[in-house]
Amino acid sequence: MKLFLDTADVEEIRIAARWGVLDGVTTNPSLYAKVGGSYDDIIREVCKITSGPVSAEVIADDVEGMLVEGRHFATIAPNIVVKIAMSENGLEAISRLADEGIKTNCTLIFTPNQGLLAAKAGASLVSPFVGRLDDINQDGMIVIRELGEIFALHEIDAEIIAASIRHPLHVTQSALAGAHIATVPFKVLQQMVHHPLTDKGIVQFKKDWAAASTAAAAKNAQA
Ligand code: G3P
Repeated sequence: MKLFLDTADVEEIRIAARWGVLDGVTTNPSLYAKVGGSYDDIIREVCKITSGPVSAEVIADDVEGMLVEGRHFATIAPNIVVKIAMSENGLEAISRLADEGIKTNCTLIFTPNQGLLAAKAGASLVSPFVGRLDDINQDGMIVIRELGEIFALHEIDAEIIAASIRHPLHVTQSALAGAHIATVPFKVLQQMVHHPLTDKGIVQFKKDWAAASTAAAAKNAQA
């Protein structure tokens, strides 16, 4: 399963890229609002850091507006994917951008039917929001699993991005449920690195090494 970072924070993206685990990036207006500045500049910078897909989300809710924004984003870099929310207009914009060879990520997916429609319209990525479903007492992983089965059964090429990931267990569950990609906040990526026994083990190794070195130095000094 591929791992994307769900952030507009360029420094976080640089760190994940240095770790060698970054396959792409997703942004949205809420994530952009946390960092501010020029959205175009951020997206351009991110596309220099990763050659993987970088999702840039349109704001317009009319088809022509979505097309104008989507075409503009597509000029920024070859790895741009235009992110469009599920709606009747969104489906039309996805279909028309697909005809123009522009890749799209259909976001705010909450049911397998919405995911199926997005893929049929031509979205190359579809993004079920697992955390927001969990928030309202519905199991978000069911959408990932069912959509995965539908895509496999009917040989649909679109890839499923497990989005709205809130904790490391969501990542494991998404991988097991058949998501092609999980897009994760940087904090979750850091949580995935750590385990208390790993961190404790590192401290103990250093302590034992230091004690052994001191003992060896003392022995050499006596010789
Ligand atoms: O990828 C979608 C994500 O940014 C939404 O996450 O935590 O606001 O539901 P959340």
